[in-house]
Amino acid sequence: MLAACSSKKEEGVVISDATLFELTQTLSSFTYLKRSLDTLPAAGNSPHGGFVRVRFNQKAISAMNDSATRLSKTFFPDESLVVKEVYGTSGGPLLEYSVMYKIPGAANSGSGWVWAEYLPDGTPEYPAIKKGDDCISCHSASGNYDLVQIFRFH
Ligand code: HEC
Repeated sequence: MLAACSSKKEEGVVISDATLFELTQTLSSFTYLKRSLDTLPAAGNSPHGGFVRVRFNQKAISAMNDSATRLSKTFFPDESLVVKEVYGTSGGPLLEYSVMYKIPGAANSGSGWVWAEYLPDGTPEYPAIKKGDDCISCHSASGNYDLVQIFRFH
């Protein structure tokens, strides 16, 4: 399965940092975890800072339950976009975005997702071209839902 996909991936497009960041900025097309704007304490071995809010685009939401707390399908559909907003304090200023975008056919996807992190102004901190090399092992920790971690903590 993986081998079959990788030959297709060679021809796939590269999702650039700028394109991906732009997709994270249309707030109206996202729904927050639990349909709540509250900031949540970071959980588990999260490397991403003290408080978080996680939002999902409508592709991702289509595979979740009505209360937006869980994945209700087996996998997220392609083009699902998950954005984590990281805050130093509850309700405090935004420190960074961590992003997962499910495009298995992208040349720079890793385990089906394109992975990146940005400062609030869009400056890449962790570029998408790295294929999530530093993200995937953590996100594969047991209890993950299609590599998404947040559901097992909140
Ligand atoms: C040390 C382990 C670890 C590493 C490394 C890591 N993450 Fe995470 N990540 C987590 C945990 C745990 C959560 C959920 C809990 C939380 O953040 O409070 C999470 C949450 C997220 C979320 C929200 C969706 C979800 O899976 O819950 C995104 C998006 C995300 N991380 C992106 C990244 C990216 C991009 C990288 C690599 C640059 C990365 N992460 C590296 C542990 C990790």
